[in-house]
Amino acid sequence: MQIEEKEPILSIHNLSVWYGDDQILNSLSFEVQPKQVTALIGPANCGKSTLVRCFNRLNDFTPNFKFSGEILFKGSDMYAEKTDVTAIRKKIGMVFRKPELFRYSIYENVAYGARISGINQSSQLDTIVERTLQRSGLWNEIESILHGNPEQLSIGQRQRLCIARALAVEPEILIFDEPCGELDPIETVKIENLVRDLRKDCTLIFVTNKRRQAARVSDVAGFLYCGGLIEFGTTEKIFTNPQDTRTEHYVTGRLG
Ligand SMILES: Nc1ncnc2c1ncn2[C@@H]1O[C@H](COP(=O)(O)OP(=O)(O)O)[C@@H](O)[C@H]1O
Ligand SMILES: [Mg+2]
Repeated sequence: MQIEEKEPILSIHNLSVWYGDDQILNSLSFEVQPKQVTALIGPANCGKSTLVRCFNRLNDFTPNFKFSGEILFKGSDMYAEKTDVTAIRKKIGMVFRKPELFRYSIYENVAYGARISGINQSSQLDTIVERTLQRSGLWNEIESILHGNPEQLSIGQRQRLCIARALAVEPEILIFDEPCGELDPIETVKIENLVRDLRKDCTLIFVTNKRRQAARVSDVAGFLYCGGLIEFGTTEKIFTNPQDTRTEHYVTGRLG
């Protein structure tokens, strides 16, 4: 099979991270290609969340956070002084394990991002909200309660609403940090299908500690262990023919 060479959307060079004196990530280097699902797998506390939080500068708020190395977003240093952090966070969205919604209506949760991008016309907002809820597979389920409180939704629906809210600003990269951690198997399948489908429009980074889930959703996978990137490659290779014995032990369930 011919491997298509594309410009990476993210390039990570020798990234190390510390919280105070504790080193959490140890000189990671890899590239994220556009319009693919890149899974980051590994046992709890190996640094997955720390890593992806570097990609939209969420760690900026963490006390004692220090890093060295470089992260390029489409070739530009994401941590350069001139970088517009708000613009970065708009282009690189994040969905967390727990669906945290704003205390507004379902409609307003989705419209919020569009409003802060300067769209105020209600017909335009209606279009964006409908299109985005269709995209995240929620429209038919919640069309009749659009102006109601999102608390009445199931946890899986709230998670898909978080995805809709993130999609409403048309991010270039969407990061999922264990998005199915609290969900039942039926909702988990819906999110997995959605993630695969979103590849058409956007680049996905999918953190999970469920091996089989990573094998199902991703094109490429990286295995993190004790703050190091042990192996990075196509999902097929990582899961069927890993080069490192630690990767092999992890994907076969003997480790972590
Ligand atoms: N804000 C923080 N301050 C200090 N240590 C932290 C902080 N956040 C995470 N850690 C530590 O960093 C390590 C990696 O955590 P994390 O990135 O959350 O791992 P994962 O997402 O793989 O479970 C853990 O040992 C965790 O306790
Ligand atoms: Mg985590």
